Amino acid sequence: MKIRKAVIPAAGLGTRVLPASKAVPKEMLPIVDKPAIQYIVEEAVASGIEEILIITNRGKAVMEDHFDRAPELEDRLKATGKADLYEEVVAVSRLANIQYLRQKETKGLGHAVACARTFVGSEPFAVLYGDDVIIGDIPATRELCEAYEKYQKGVAGIQYVPREQIGKYCTLKVEKLEDKIYSISEMIEKPRDDQFISNYAALGRCVLPPDVFDILDNLPPGANGEIQLTDAMRQLAHQGRMVGVEYTSKRYDMGSKLGILQAAVEVGVKHPELAAAFRAYLKDFVKTL
Ligand code: UTP
Repeated sequence: MKIRKAVIPAAGLGTRVLPASKAVPKEMLPIVDKPAIQYIVEEAVASGIEEILIITNRGKAVMEDHFDRAPELEDRLKATGKADLYEEVVAVSRLANIQYLRQKETKGLGHAVACARTFVGSEPFAVLYGDDVIIGDIPATRELCEAYEKYQKGVAGIQYVPREQIGKYCTLKVEKLEDKIYSISEMIEKPRDDQFISNYAALGRCVLPPDVFDILDNLPPGANGEIQLTDAMRQLAHQGRMVGVEYTSKRYDMGSKLGILQAAVEVGVKHPELAAAFRAYLKDFVKTL
């Protein structure tokens, strides 16, 4: 079955990037000239997704505005002959069929996904974490969807993480199935040092079967007292129903200060309008470091 639906949880508190994220959702922080959430919606569309649900909360209505029409702005751009910008602004509102739902309490990523039950219905669906922007020629969600269609199992996007950072993410027990694809038999969220299994962590994307909602509804709070999506995937893994795909494109953590800086630099040096000037600036600047 083709994966048609995606959920983008974007209702977190963003405490790692305060105070920037106090009034502006971290998902709206820009990478050069587009907010993080737009890159994510574009990846979903490029992966064949037809319907998107963004999980928001109080104070995040600005995301809805971003994907809406903006008549006053559009009229001004048209009237002042800025045809390119006009096209670009209108195109954002036509990107995808997007719905919004509020997570009323910030109880964790797993809880945010659980809110999507009615939207998802009885189909497998993709989850794109709202603060993980993945940029590259091959859309990560497409790689995961292909693996779901092939193996008919839940799929976690995975990456190799240095040992000293693994405690921030999760650790996986994996066995290689083919190039870049692994079966997953164990997953531990925010592992302590003595729980370390491997350097592979589930990061940023997954594709899940609809019965994950029954698991999520019965899940006790896990690490940090939150309902953890990893704990639900762990149950699927124990049933032999999870694989991992080491996605090809590069992930930027827009929920962290360093991730925001890395994204700005790496997108900046390739940006059609800015690349030449920004590269020249950077080359001079690094000499002063
Ligand atoms: P994170 O754990 O990175 O988000 O969740 P956070 O809670 O905002 O992080 P801190 O406070 O900086 O540590 C990953 C994604 O899940 C969403 C977040 O918005 C982010 O895009 N999320 C998280 C929710 O939608 N609801 C939640 O209750 C928690």
